[in-house]
Amino acid sequence: MKLLILNGPNLNLLGQREPEQYGTGTYRDLVDMIAAHAKARGVEVDFLQSNHEGALVDAIQEAYGVYDGIVLNPAAYTHTSVALLDALKAVRIPTVEVHISDVSKREAFRQVSYVREACMATIVGHGFRGYLEAVDLLIGEAEAKA
Ligand code: DQA
Repeated sequence: MKLLILNGPNLNLLGQREPEQYGTGTYRDLVDMIAAHAKARGVEVDFLQSNHEGALVDAIQEAYGVYDGIVLNPAAYTHTSVALLDALKAVRIPTVEVHISDVSKREAFRQVSYVREACMATIVGHGFRGYLEAVDLLIGEAEAKA
């Protein structure tokens, strides 16, 4: 099983960026944590972080036929991007939406998620652990289908 871990804008600045919202761990720490978890669970993972909406759309399109699942934190594009929603709908790859912070308790504009309707689950406010839970959900989904 092969999963794509896709992170959107400004998540490369984890650790330095609003630590009260996102904690003090860096993007590298996040990647290492997910890679260790994936290894322990026996799944392959690839990582991509981009600040560019089109690059994220390209990554979702190119995931078709390559990945069995996507863990997606679209960051700010969550709240604006019909293009990401359409890409997810086009490829129909099981996807879990993750947010490090609890977006449900933040500004009104963060309550809207365009991508949510194309995702099998959404995890908010569990910090970096949310990504590991998303990996586990995708493994569970694949096992249920097998
Ligand atoms: C975020 C929440 C978004 O509202 C914000 O724009 C981010 C990060 C999170 O992980 O909590 O960049 O997706």
